[in-house]
Amino acid sequence: MATALGKGSVVAVIGSGAMGAGIAQVVAAAGYEVKLFDTRPEAVQKAILDIGKVYAKLVEKGRMGGADAQAANARLHCVADLHEVAGCALVIEAIVENLDVKRMLFADLENVVADDCILATNTSSISVTAIGAKLRRPERLVGMHFFNPVPLMALVEVISGLATSPVVAGTVFATAAAWGKNPVHAKSTPGFIVNRVARPFYAEALRLLSEQAADPATLDAVLREAGGFRMGPFELMDLIGHDVNFSVTQSVFNAYFGDPRFMPSVLQQEMVNAGFLGRKSGRGFYQYGDEAVKAAASLEAPQPKPEAVGVSIEPGVKNAVTEPVEQRLRAAGFSVAHRKPLPGAGQHEAPGFHCNGAAVFLTDGRTATERANANNHPDTVLYDLQFDPAGATRIALARSDQCSDAAYGAVVGLFQAAGLHVTRLDDVPGMAVMRTVAMLANEAADAVNQGVCSAAAVDIAMQKGVNYPRGPLAWADSVGIAHVVTVLSNLAATYGEERYRVSPLLRRKLANGTRFHG
Ligand code: NAI
Repeated sequence: MATALGKGSVVAVIGSGAMGAGIAQVVAAAGYEVKLFDTRPEAVQKAILDIGKVYAKLVEKGRMGGADAQAANARLHCVADLHEVAGCALVIEAIVENLDVKRMLFADLENVVADDCILATNTSSISVTAIGAKLRRPERLVGMHFFNPVPLMALVEVISGLATSPVVAGTVFATAAAWGKNPVHAKSTPGFIVNRVARPFYAEALRLLSEQAADPATLDAVLREAGGFRMGPFELMDLIGHDVNFSVTQSVFNAYFGDPRFMPSVLQQEMVNAGFLGRKSGRGFYQYGDEAVKAAASLEAPQPKPEAVGVSIEPGVKNAVTEPVEQRLRAAGFSVAHRKPLPGAGQHEAPGFHCNGAAVFLTDGRTATERANANNHPDTVLYDLQFDPAGATRIALARSDQCSDAAYGAVVGLFQAAGLHVTRLDDVPGMAVMRTVAMLANEAADAVNQGVCSAAAVDIAMQKGVNYPRGPLAWADSVGIAHVVTVLSNLAATYGEERYRVSPLLRRKLANGTRFHG
């Protein structure tokens, strides 16, 4: 295993913008000397000043010792000429996102640094292979992809281009870990891990909105309060900026030669066309500013508590999907009676609940209407996936077009009595959380299948890079790979689109009966 660069090593950071300054802050605090360079010397001065202020704040809050802050500050050096990085063991580039400019910088650096100096690029979208291609020693060029804001986000994607030496990638990995970061290895492929695997989080939400499943505030609330995501997709896109988010999607879509998996959204393009870029323009999916009224998620009106609920399931058989929901209903005082599923009898499709004549199932990627029809049971209601059924505060339901108000009302009352906010989505296939999680898992599985990264790496990356409550593959394990494959297959059948094709690795896991983790 490669070892980290020692504390005696000097690290150069080229580019003192948002990313370069964040990297310098972390590296100096970890005990390494840092040389900062920027074509705009005033940017370096500002970065060093700002970092000093951050250290001072940390001291104030008791999160950094006064002497440590002083020492870290003293380790930050402004460099006026690129030649001054000559003795560095590692140079991290965080300049403008342009292949030619980055290539030019690394060509200059090769003429300055020693043969064993590692060259790292913080690019988020350019091929590391391409950046290194013109170097005399392309094997020493590696991607070191930090996340914004660098001091707060633990993830570093260590990206190997086709020519990158495994020793170089290993050293950078160990060094990032020594800086307190959570590194993962990845191959240089469009979007690397996070910017690729996260695409469905935005794409499925935009799709749901364009199909009128619900409004942005309602979908955000479902993803947050049922799905366990820290932010809903619409508020997150508003924060990132639709111009930025749309351009990342476009760049990944183009880099994969138009793979429909990554197809950008016409709806988001219109947001960009309108200049509704999100927080920074005062308007995105939400309004911002002093006068803005916060849009509220829709809620079903209170319904009476039904008496009892049944579960169609083989008595004694534990079911990972229904059991936590059943436990929540029991905790709310419902007597839950198990009964054997009856083959062919729609209301007893297993696993499922039944309540005042309504059949209640977890979404499997078909609409409630389709399922009601297939089971010849009009009163069918579906519920969406929850991250943690015991602690969730919201559940999303979809009712079949044939479902009676009385049957639907009973199901609403059932979940309300269990302390949940109940939100209705229109009867869209796969609902919101299930569809998002299935597509995230599908993309994660494809990344693993294509050797971009390991299953452990993709799950760490999505938790540490974009704060997902659980890695997508661990999530697939917990929902059950069979169910994820069913959801995706049903979506593929409904839409007839390549977008929902099932990853070969999910199919293989299903066939050999293994899980991603343990
Ligand atoms: P920025 O625009 O805040 O800073 C870039 C800095 O580089 C500027 O101060 C500029 O004067 C300097 N610069 C430009 N050309 C230079 C050159 N040839 N030599 C020396 N300095 C030069 O940009 P930001 O956001 O810090 O991004 C930098 C890099 O990090 C880009 O490659 C970007 O794709 C990547 N990145 C950005 C993330 C973000 O969220 N902003 C996240 C992850 C990666």
